[in-house]
Amino acid sequence: MEFEELVRNRYSCRKFLPAPVLRPTIERILDLAQQTPSWCNVQPWQVVLVTGGAVTSFRDSLLAHAAGGHSPKPDFPFPLRYEGIYRERRKVCGVQLYQALGIGRENREGAERQRLENFRFFDAPHVALITTEEELGVYGAVDCGLYVANFMLAAKNFGVDSIAQAALASYPDLIRSRFGLPSNRKLVCGISFGYADAEHPIHRYRTERARAGEVATWIG
Ligand SMILES: Cc1cc2nc3c(=O)[nH]c(=O)nc-3n(C[C@H](O)[C@H](O)[C@H](O)COP(=O)(O)O)c2cc1C
Repeated sequence: MEFEELVRNRYSCRKFLPAPVLRPTIERILDLAQQTPSWCNVQPWQVVLVTGGAVTSFRDSLLAHAAGGHSPKPDFPFPLRYEGIYRERRKVCGVQLYQALGIGRENREGAERQRLENFRFFDAPHVALITTEEELGVYGAVDCGLYVANFMLAAKNFGVDSIAQAALASYPDLIRSRFGLPSNRKLVCGISFGYADAEHPIHRYRTERARAGEVATWIG
């Protein structure tokens, strides 16, 4: 795909088909994502690539933990609150999702079921967990954010759909212990990926963006 088409066509996939992505394709995605720039070229990202049967057992333990009512304890604090325009955008984002699925305002059970889909990786056959080094601070996490964007665009370039998931950073201790990560590896987020179930109702809408003119202040 042309770059512009690629950027405009990527969307967060929330229902995947079971078909796995072939390993050489995943390796090409990883290889392209390695081109991500980082401060002083430190390349802080390390990726735990969960695939095959390991996804099933990981999902079972994470889902049980999340459904068990444990409060998230992320390495990087989740937003404290959403006010003003951010509150508005967040609301639209949620309304679009629930409307696509026919989950009404009063349907708390349906909303909770959909929240827990995060911990089922939306049925994705692969999950990448993106970590940074604690000592690199906020810019290490920024570099990882760039990596996530490049990973998702690289995936789309090969016809592979994806979704970045901060939800997967809710329980980093569980993930460190499960995958033998040292305590100074901090979890930024996960990326679930695979081939989209494109006909699923959850994919009937696309999110919108503010116009560039609303965010850029031109000086001179
Ligand atoms: C860092 C990051 C974390 C995200 N975490 C979640 C998540 O936990 N669950 C989810 O359903 N979507 C998550 N998203 C997806 C966003 O909701 C989505 O990118 C946004 O609504 C714009 O929609 P689009 O990706 O379809 O363009 C995340 C996106 C980013 C970039």
